[in-house]
Amino acid sequence: MPNNKVGDMWKHFFEKPKKAYNPYMVRLAEYPEYIMYDRSIMDSYKNRWTEYFGNDNPIYLEIGSGSGNFANGMCEKYPERNHMAIEIRFKRLHTSARKAKKIPLENVLFIQRKGEEILNFIGDEEIAGMYINFPEPWDHKPKNRVLQPSTIEMMRKIFRKGGKLFFKTDHDEYFESVLEFMKDIEGFEVVYQTTDLHNDPKNADNVMTEFESLFLHKHNKNINYLEIEKL
Ligand SMILES: C[S@@+](CC[C@H](N)C(=O)[O-])C[C@H]1O[C@@H](n2cnc3c(N)ncnc32)[C@H](O)[C@@H]1O
Repeated sequence: MPNNKVGDMWKHFFEKPKKAYNPYMVRLAEYPEYIMYDRSIMDSYKNRWTEYFGNDNPIYLEIGSGSGNFANGMCEKYPERNHMAIEIRFKRLHTSARKAKKIPLENVLFIQRKGEEILNFIGDEEIAGMYINFPEPWDHKPKNRVLQPSTIEMMRKIFRKGGKLFFKTDHDEYFESVLEFMKDIEGFEVVYQTTDLHNDPKNADNVMTEFESLFLHKHNKNINYLEIEKL
């Protein structure tokens, strides 16, 4: 992407200008009604996302929403909910917004930001639930995982009482590690778990993600699923 088309937009994402940019970075601006990337605007909505959505419907978060199949599918299925899908990759956000506009949806917002930064723009008890689907396992660096004890501490602040985390993964060790660290965390409880979602009664409600379809059709891998509730 030539720098003359980029203008100041790089400042939203990088500390210093670069020689070249991913062309999808500027293309995020094609969907202002579906994609938010300006940190100052995002942060200004902390504690007042109901104003952004224009209703009092419960707000759900998703971290690592990929190309948006899950976010858009959930928004179609549950029009009485709002869904904020957080993703770092430009092209995946652009694809997600294109699909949302085609439907079209009014209850989804895609946010370009790291999941670790949600306390900057989400207020206390603002959230009814959160989804983490097939996060990268970081086999050799588990401290980089999107779901770890510090994530539960963020949930303690932003979740309402009864708020739930919904987690799906094909990675058996990641799944086991979450069950293990949850034993030491107070105020939250694992209220549902299965190591074979697609052969579980919960599958009736399941909305598939892109990675999930791939695992199912190519690798026939069992999918682990759990729900953790804030007491
Ligand atoms: C393995 S993909 C899964 C995508 C989607 N959830 C699915 O199941 O098809 C993980 C996604 O998380 C995003 N991601 C990784 N680290 C992230 C972070 N710290 N904050 C937000 N998104 C992140 C990646 O860009 C990628 O799209």
